[in-house]
Amino acid sequence: MKKLFALSLIFLLAIGILSFSEDPILKIPLGFPSPPIPEDNQLTNSRIALGKKLFFDKVMSRDSTLSCATCHKPEYAFTDRLEKAVGIRNQQVSRNAPTLANVVYLDKLLLDAVNPSLEAQVMVPIHEKNEFDFHIILVAERMKKNPEYVKLCEDAYQSEPNPYAITHSIACYERTLISGNSAYDQFKYQGDSTALNSEERRGMSLFFNELYCASCHGGFNFSDQALTNNGLYESYADSGRIRLTGLETDRAVFRVPTLRNIAVTYPYMHDGGVESLDEVIEHYMSGGKTHPNKSSIIQPFQLTKEKKEDLIAFLHSLTDSSFISH
Ligand code: HEC
Ligand code: HEC
Repeated sequence: MKKLFALSLIFLLAIGILSFSEDPILKIPLGFPSPPIPEDNQLTNSRIALGKKLFFDKVMSRDSTLSCATCHKPEYAFTDRLEKAVGIRNQQVSRNAPTLANVVYLDKLLLDAVNPSLEAQVMVPIHEKNEFDFHIILVAERMKKNPEYVKLCEDAYQSEPNPYAITHSIACYERTLISGNSAYDQFKYQGDSTALNSEERRGMSLFFNELYCASCHGGFNFSDQALTNNGLYESYADSGRIRLTGLETDRAVFRVPTLRNIAVTYPYMHDGGVESLDEVIEHYMSGGKTHPNKSSIIQPFQLTKEKKEDLIAFLHSLTDSSFISH
């Protein structure tokens, strides 16, 4: 009896210590910096709960057939497996849906980095004719008819359902989508020297030391967020960042994407034009197409079949299975 008492005391103490020493909301993986959270939209559990409910709710689209998760599916690391995303009434969107893993760390949103914040970005799919083809005021009106939303908005922002609560809560939920528990992370940051096999370790060395990949896809999130061109085409259907700046030097320029969970987020590139990692590597080996804005870092190189397989094995080790089973 005494023993049982002592055990439960230890157990209670352990819970106490854990809940004090851990960030109550964001779990920052080892090796990752603290992400920036806006002063005026601090994370709370009720804000995240509201944002998550909206993210998965078809109430957001005009004909109630689509939610954010239609194009950003958790099991595909918040992408959709389509070349280009498909919105309301089966209309095609002009780009491939990117992963939402680690968006909290992005300085600017959208593939050409034209959107200033996660809060502002929420407006885009709601109003796009090819996506939800709706209006944020009308989303709020629908929510007012649902007592659960009325309560959640009250708890989260002390307001009735309104555009502020919609944009801010979804941004809070997106900030929790942090992915940093792949085999690579276990090896590199969590001290598990057995997490990567020898093939993956050889691939890691190619990626970081022998090839030029890490000059753009470096750092904890495998992207320096540089705006550049990797020579996919001689002439691009998508004009890229020039749509914001009007500068020729921004034509067909896109933000370097993260490579986290890359094995599950195919097809690749802004237009989903590359189907497999094998083809991605072939692209870089060829040195890419001639384009005036192509980065001078991209140069042709050769890899044996074995080395190519090593590199692909390494890229596969960036899959975080705890993240995609969200
Ligand atoms: C019809 C498919 C579709 C729907 C629905 C959709 N998205 Fe997206 N999302 C995309 C595509 C495509 C892009 C890339 C667009 C671009 O770069 O111009 C994108 C980009 C984003 C980005 C920027 C990511 C980055 O890397 O910069 C965020 C954040 C985002 N979506 C969140 C949402 C949220 C929140 C919703 C719901 C309110 C939503 N999306 C609904 C297809 C969709
Ligand atoms: C000069 C910077 C730069 C270098 C160096 C570079 N990349 Fe990229 N990478 C990019 C950009 C920019 C894109 C997105 C292009 C687009 O969407 O059209 C990209 C896209 C990718 C993608 C597809 C990502 C996705 O989600 O669609 C993969 C995979 C990739 N690169 C792997 C590599 C590998 C492997 C290397 C080394 C052999 C490498 N990259 C070198 C800039 C770079």
